[in-house]
Amino acid sequence: MDAIFEAIQKTAKRIKTAIDIKDIGYSQQENSSGETQLQLDIKCDMIIEEEFSKISSIHTIASEEKEKEMLLHKDGKYFIAYDPLDGSSLVDVNLSVGSIFGIYENSFGAKNMVASCYVVFGPRVEMVFAHNKVKMYLLQNDEFEFVKEVRLNEKGKLNAPGGTQQNWKPYHKEMVDSLFAEGYRLRYSGGMVPDLHQILLKGGGLFSYPATSDKPDGKLRKLFEVFPFAFVYKKAGGEAIDGKNDLMELEHNHIHDTSPCFFGSKYEIDKVKEVYGRN
Ligand code: AHG
Repeated sequence: MDAIFEAIQKTAKRIKTAIDIKDIGYSQQENSSGETQLQLDIKCDMIIEEEFSKISSIHTIASEEKEKEMLLHKDGKYFIAYDPLDGSSLVDVNLSVGSIFGIYENSFGAKNMVASCYVVFGPRVEMVFAHNKVKMYLLQNDEFEFVKEVRLNEKGKLNAPGGTQQNWKPYHKEMVDSLFAEGYRLRYSGGMVPDLHQILLKGGGLFSYPATSDKPDGKLRKLFEVFPFAFVYKKAGGEAIDGKNDLMELEHNHIHDTSPCFFGSKYEIDKVKEVYGRN
């Protein structure tokens, strides 16, 4: 695991350089989710593939930018699913973006997850690594320095509601509005890494990306986005559900499967369960 942790740190420094150099524009390719890939997405994917290829304990990788999984070392035991640059379209407008890594043992699947990690590229570069505990690191003078252990409070103050509101179910809108009516403040940038990072560091709140009429299975991908953040939130004392079920209990059929998802502290997730339980 130490070798993987170090490899992720190397990728983070290289990705930071790639983001800083220039916004390279759109390529002609589409990824498996039908989105036009930025050359920057492809570059970040290559950086991670290159660094992970050097680690013999990594058996297989799956990337949001690759159609299929890729075998690296047949004697390795770790399976890593990653989103190289989540929210990459936000680079154009200079908002924060991030890389997400889900580390699984023996095969992909929520029940096999043993660690997860994300890196936020904002005004500063920060990394959160969840294994037994959830620890945050800050990039300083080309090295990641440990900053603190992260824990969520029982209740927060922030509300980050994703998805197109026009396509929300009426009861989802009621649930979101009820939090605002209690005094929750809107915090939504359109990048799940900075949005979830903010809620985590500010002690709690709710991030939701629900099932909508145009996306009945949600938008965010189980292996690369949903399970890794569910692992972080649960280890930090929070909860992560699909509306009714614990996200870490979900199965997947395909590496690019998506799921509705809600991440937060206990109070807000209880609220989601209450509303979704009767609908
Ligand atoms: P992408 O990977 O295409 O850049 O999408 C970003 C993701 C995630 O980071 C964010 O929370 C969500 O899409 C935002 O989607 P909406 O614009 O539909 O709210």
